[in-house]
Amino acid sequence: MEFIVKSGTPEKQRSGCLVVGVFESRKLSAVAHQIDEVSGGAIGAILRRGDLEGKSGQTLLLHNIPNIPSERVLLVGCGKEKEFNESRYREVTGKAVTALRDTGASEITTYLTELEVKGRDIAWKIRQAVEVTEASLYRFDRLKSKPNNNRRALRRVVLAVPKRSDLGTGEQAIKEGQAIAESVKLVRDLGNLPGNLCTPTYLAEQALAIGKQYGLKTTVLEKADMQQLGMGAFLSVARGSRQPPKLIVLEYQGDKESEAPVALIGKGLTFDAGGISIKPAANMDEMKYDMCGGASVLGAIKAAAELKLPINIVGIIPSSENLPDGDANKPGDIVTSMSGQTVEVLNTDAEGRLILCDALTYAERFKPAVVVDIATLTGACVIALGGHASGLLANNDQLARELANAGKYTYDRAWQLPLWDEYQKQLESNFADMANIGGREGGTITAACFLSRYAKNFKWAHLDIAGTAWKTGKEKGATGRPVPLLIQFLINRARKDGAETGT
Ligand code: BES
Ligand code: MN
Ligand code: ZN
Repeated sequence: MEFIVKSGTPEKQRSGCLVVGVFESRKLSAVAHQIDEVSGGAIGAILRRGDLEGKSGQTLLLHNIPNIPSERVLLVGCGKEKEFNESRYREVTGKAVTALRDTGASEITTYLTELEVKGRDIAWKIRQAVEVTEASLYRFDRLKSKPNNNRRALRRVVLAVPKRSDLGTGEQAIKEGQAIAESVKLVRDLGNLPGNLCTPTYLAEQALAIGKQYGLKTTVLEKADMQQLGMGAFLSVARGSRQPPKLIVLEYQGDKESEAPVALIGKGLTFDAGGISIKPAANMDEMKYDMCGGASVLGAIKAAAELKLPINIVGIIPSSENLPDGDANKPGDIVTSMSGQTVEVLNTDAEGRLILCDALTYAERFKPAVVVDIATLTGACVIALGGHASGLLANNDQLARELANAGKYTYDRAWQLPLWDEYQKQLESNFADMANIGGREGGTITAACFLSRYAKNFKWAHLDIAGTAWKTGKEKGATGRPVPLLIQFLINRARKDGAETGT
């Protein structure tokens, strides 16, 4: 999709469709009002017939509005003006795009960007518009023998800005929005791709391709390398699979070599059947998205490289399957992690922490400024926070705040849970240094407690994305979260003045 910014009044635009907002009840936004004036009250007259009340997400497509050179005008209901907020802005932007997707308009000019969103500037609105537009048009149909032949006529979106002086800001916002949207798409594709196609080897190939495209140092450690490193926890999970495990390492250098990197570690379980502690059959197919943490690391690094952020990043993606097998982990098995700590595997389905703990220890060699791991780690997090917020836990409150703020700004939110010492007790084992499960209570927290034992030597935060990386139900599929959060976190960190964009 091509995006451009433009300033200027609606009656001067010659566009396939002008998109304007109408609040409840039938209250015209400023631009809708302008169109109404030049058309001699055409919009008001149509609204009085009762076809659009202005409820959020309602749309009405009009043709041949007098004195308007554009072919169409799309009225978009925005709800009550007083209640209009970030969430509504995203909703109406998405609705407008889906309403126009199957019309003949190949080019549209949207003025929704000129609606006031409290506390948000034009840069925010433009960026969100790009992200939401791309996300609403996303389809995963490459595995259908006959792809949906919807014409996807829409090719160009013109985003209106109120003043000429906003054009520069708008262009930068488009650039960022497109980089984010591209990475979100990448992560959605990888998450939606089934386990028979998206294997650890496939993930490694994707990483190598991205590395090549952007000139990144990309290394893929094989099983023998991991044996040499003593990654007994990671390898114990991989033993149950015929697919060779991979430890993918990408290094992006956008800053001086001497600057400590941000380390991003992503869980890359390309399929999680649970192992010998096998999962129930219902919805098990969805466990192909257990690699979305790893994919979002790829996405974040790709966007950072695309935007040439002045920051150093190292991405580490431990990738494996978790399957039942004659050689798989058995409940009660004790494995030795790379750190030397031993783990009693009381439940083979708590495999994410087993592969992540060795990746955390491995991260130490990069002397990272901070470490953030991203993982679809616990079903408990889905219960606690649902699909709206990622779980956030950290051994450093400043780092937690940075991530929470980045999530707030991008509307890819995370919510902090406590990592108090009292929870650590739940991981005690009779036979090893720790167990890999801590009981039902506070499952997201005890999972993070487990990881914290491998994160003692650096500032570390953990994002549990089990609820946010995937949408269930009729339109199920990968969401691409928390890529926007991660990219904003990197953008903010790359700023030498230490300022954070919005909160
Ligand atoms: N990948 C799952 C977590 C998960 C569950 C993600 C549901 C998305 C939706 C993880 O490997 C897992 O199985 N965790 C167990 C841990 C338990 C055995 C302590 C869980 O949450 O049930
Ligand atoms: Mn599992
Ligand atoms: Zn898992």
